Amino acid sequence: MIGYAFCGSYCTHKASIAQLEGLVASGYDVLPIMSENVYNTDTRFGKAEELRERVFEICGREAIHTIVDSEPLGPKIALDAMIICPCTGNTLAKLAAGITDTAVCMAAKAHLRGNRPLVIALASNDALSANLKNIATLLSRKFVYFVPMFQDDPMKKPHSLIADFSLLRPTLDYAFEGKQYQKIFV
Ligand SMILES: Cc1cc2nc3c(=O)[nH]c(=O)nc-3n(C[C@H](O)[C@H](O)[C@H](O)COP(=O)(O)O)c2cc1C
Repeated sequence: MIGYAFCGSYCTHKASIAQLEGLVASGYDVLPIMSENVYNTDTRFGKAEELRERVFEICGREAIHTIVDSEPLGPKIALDAMIICPCTGNTLAKLAAGITDTAVCMAAKAHLRGNRPLVIALASNDALSANLKNIATLLSRKFVYFVPMFQDDPMKKPHSLIADFSLLRPTLDYAFEGKQYQKIFV
């Protein structure tokens, strides 16, 4: 079973859902996870309830969305891999700093106890500013892999990076082999 976590990069949820559908269609059993913000927040990009329902339809189970329910993911429920797609700058910074105060951070921490891959698909406007050091920190952490990223709008958003979600699958395949899919920056 694979864990698939959503963080609050709301504009990328549609693209993430497409990847989730693809994983399930190719036979993966997926346990969905949502940050508390994602689980509860309506934005101009969509309603939380609609996302929860869509994810339930695809995965056939409710999304884990609390620290209490995430905690068993390492010791009791062993995931083969965990994906965070999208991963916000907020969650990236917390993972780099070892902060565990959300359902997604707790799931990642619990999962990494088992030395299995964690795949991060980042989408953040501060990836090349406040969060650049956190990308570096996590790139050098064992069992953490990045979906290749690019500058989505270098002129208007000069500090922004977004993962190329279409490369999630090969990144996952490489991660299962213990390798970072290359190139990291596309
Ligand atoms: C409409 C909207 C869009 C957002 N898009 C992003 C985004 O693309 N990337 C990002 O890092 N944060 C984005 N944020 C900010 C995060 O949602 C915020 O940092 C939140 O605390 C993230 O919590 P989480 O990482 O636990 O999901 C957005 C917020 C809103 C309201």
